[in-house]
Amino acid sequence: MGASVLTESAADAGVPGGAGAAPGGFVRSDGVLCCGTVSLESLAERHGTPLFVYDGDRILARLKALRDAFAPVRPLVAYSVKANPNLAVLDLLAGAGVGADIVSGGELYRCLRAGVPADKVVFAGVGKTRVEMRDALKAGIKAFHVESAPEMDALGEVAVQMGRAAPMGVRVNPDVASSTHEYTRTGHAAAKFGVPPEQALALYRRAAAREGLRPVGIDVHVGSQVREPEPFLRALDVVLDVADRVRREVGVRLGYVDMGGGFGIAGGKGGELDLVALGKGVADRLEGSGTALIVEPGRFLVGDAGALLTRVLYVKRSGGKTFVVADAGMTELIRPSHYGGVHGISLARRPADGAGSDADADIASAADAGRDAERVDVVGPVCEQGDFLARDRLMTVPDPGAVLCVHQAGAYAFAMASNYNSRPRPAEVLVRGGQAALVRRRESFRDLVRGEARA
Ligand code: LLP
Repeated sequence: MGASVLTESAADAGVPGGAGAAPGGFVRSDGVLCCGTVSLESLAERHGTPLFVYDGDRILARLKALRDAFAPVRPLVAYSVKANPNLAVLDLLAGAGVGADIVSGGELYRCLRAGVPADKVVFAGVGKTRVEMRDALKAGIKAFHVESAPEMDALGEVAVQMGRAAPMGVRVNPDVASSTHEYTRTGHAAAKFGVPPEQALALYRRAAAREGLRPVGIDVHVGSQVREPEPFLRALDVVLDVADRVRREVGVRLGYVDMGGGFGIAGGKGGELDLVALGKGVADRLEGSGTALIVEPGRFLVGDAGALLTRVLYVKRSGGKTFVVADAGMTELIRPSHYGGVHGISLARRPADGAGSDADADIASAADAGRDAERVDVVGPVCEQGDFLARDRLMTVPDPGAVLCVHQAGAYAFAMASNYNSRPRPAEVLVRGGQAALVRRRESFRDLVRGEARA
């Protein structure tokens, strides 16, 4: 795999002993917040800020928790690459036997570069191009999840041109509501994703009758950051019913059900999805049925294993407000402004007098947040009023120069980062077993203009 690696040992990081809990896999040790045994502040010093840090051991621990919860049905875990597509993350997960859920030719390219076996890759999305279809067919992916009749016809044509039959499933829209943000809800009837059960049945009938398509499974996905088991189980019931009708009415036995991803993690005021309860509900429905299961977790595996480190530039008081101006903003983490996402923020090093606490990492009460807590907006340098990492957050006002750790930044953070305001994207570091490796270097100004030319 191609990621460059610079290593750094825990010894360099100079972490004193003693331990304390912080969100995700991050641990506070004598006031110093660490990823495993590596001090986050030392990483910020070495690699600069903004900086993404991922805890590889935590990612693997989350994978184990997921596999344990679904143990009776032994699912294929198809990691949703869009959450965090860094080659080192893919490499780590591929090494643990994980497949992938992809939505583009670019994601397929990354998977193949990282050694994810093609026959463990499923391809979703409403707008796959014929070029993407051809490349994925050539690579030998496990299945395409088609989302409309015209898309399915295009896939059939591409496959026939190649003298192949494309393995496929239909993505069903189960018309199930969930309590997540409007933009991350995908299973209700008005969403652009999937087709209703009747249409799905018709698509299977059509697929079975034509050349170039081989129906092998069925797919559903209700949304992202869903924290209750019920929507997943209701959606599963809908697709199991469709699969049953496909068997009886079309005469095709679908080998697997892909129940998508979206397993919610803790953060803000909400707790984590009860994955054990969900696993039990799924096993009740599938165990002994002969139907295989695919799950597509993204955020659950990598979300709380990642942190965004940002340095405080200034503290500004105006208009009755206190602004903590940091060197990261919406260009590095768009979730607060785009989805109202709430990310815990804590100091990488807590002052010796004990002010501030890991309760800062959540929406804390005044008592939790330390004696001199204030309501602040943590904002970035981007020229947008919507550029913020947190609003009205009760926290101990940090000193300029302090390194802040923004939690739950392992998913949909770097993946959605942009070069807006001509800001180079940050570096990424992966920590495993006390070793920190630079897995993506910081972009340079030269990177910003690569590919541009004078007219
Ligand atoms: N499978 C399908 C078909 C999906 O569309 C998604 C996410 C996943 C799996 C993985 O969902 P996860 O397990 O990561 O929740 N940018 C938004 C999230 C968008 C999710 C898009 N699809 C955010 O930052 O909240």
